[in-house]
Amino acid sequence: MSDFIDTILLKQEFSHADLVLLLNALGQDKKKLFTRSAEIKKQYVGNKVYFRGLVELSNICSKNCLYCGIRAGNTKPERYMVTEEEVLDAAQFALDNGYGSMVLQSGERSDEQFVDTVSTLLQKIKELSGGKLGITLSMGEQTEKTYRQWYADGAHRYLIRIETSDRELYYKIHPNNKKHDFDIRINALKLLREIGYNVGSGVMIGLPFQTIEHLANDLLFLKQLDVDMVGMGPFIEHEDTPLYEFKDSLWPKKERFDVSLKMVALLRIMMKDINIAATTAMQAIDKQGREKALKVGANIIMPNLTPVKYREDYLLYEDKPCLDEDASECRNCLEARIHMAGDEIGFNEWGDSKHFAKRNNSPKE
Ligand code: 5AD
Ligand code: SF4
Ligand code: FES
Repeated sequence: MSDFIDTILLKQEFSHADLVLLLNALGQDKKKLFTRSAEIKKQYVGNKVYFRGLVELSNICSKNCLYCGIRAGNTKPERYMVTEEEVLDAAQFALDNGYGSMVLQSGERSDEQFVDTVSTLLQKIKELSGGKLGITLSMGEQTEKTYRQWYADGAHRYLIRIETSDRELYYKIHPNNKKHDFDIRINALKLLREIGYNVGSGVMIGLPFQTIEHLANDLLFLKQLDVDMVGMGPFIEHEDTPLYEFKDSLWPKKERFDVSLKMVALLRIMMKDINIAATTAMQAIDKQGREKALKVGANIIMPNLTPVKYREDYLLYEDKPCLDEDASECRNCLEARIHMAGDEIGFNEWGDSKHFAKRNNSPKE
């Protein structure tokens, strides 16, 4: 099969059949894929890795995604909201340590009080950093008015994972109701683009009922949507969620990890200049998961800045790393890991996706 792989890897565009074949690649063929994606990374985005300091703002969520450990229906986690002072301390830490950006992530809430709290936080982070810290939001689906308000307050990137681009599979991993509507989610990504955000999305890999064919379509979907940023990683079952009942039918964890790496590598080849995160879920399965993802094409890392006392209440999945390590420990750990992967850290830079800058022809920095 090897010569065949060489020919496919040199194509300008991959077909669905090419992607299925590459996602199934093993041994030498898999190595060739990873060598090619590493070359493309070097050529198009270089070896600089950007930090996004992550604050998991609140685990209060009005949704009930069937895979997620903090879904509204799970009564086990103690629900929290990080205080303003704690968020600003995290922002100060990010600034002092040369992180170019922060990500504020939260369970989904759209009540006025929450929307305004986020607005205030955005304004205060901008003020504290003199506009130096870039801000990404990962707050789920909101109204167009809210997206616009938060953009005006200083957020300029927004992440909404589509989770799977297959409508049928989407409704197998979400309740089938208005709160979990596939079309609204797709539309959210379009709205965010129109408003001017850098738009990020992504999928989970190794979901119950998911096939390699679905994942090949996910890659084509992300390309078609022309996203600026992607975060994707393995699905990891959580005991207190409805999907746990399918745990025995899942791919072995090692395989979910392996396919996740191939997804990162393929996306890097398909979308050469976007930002791709080495996600925490990769490290939940493999101790060197994030370094491995960097090696095959990822260029973004999200060190956790959430105060340690909240972390075990933000367990979206099992085996989530860094439960006891505070911001400084994670910083040291990640610096070492990035160097081990042969990369450097892009300190004090926003590190927006080159793809976004090219499309808009007006970099913001
Ligand atoms: N395994 C892996 N990833 C998960 N997420 C939520 N639950 C899980 C899980 N069990 C991811 C989803 C969501 C992001 C915040 O976390 O992709 O968009
Ligand atoms: Fe809420 Fe997000 Fe978890 Fe869904 S994945 S239940 S929206 S926190
Ligand atoms: Fe948190 Fe390694 S990244 S301890």
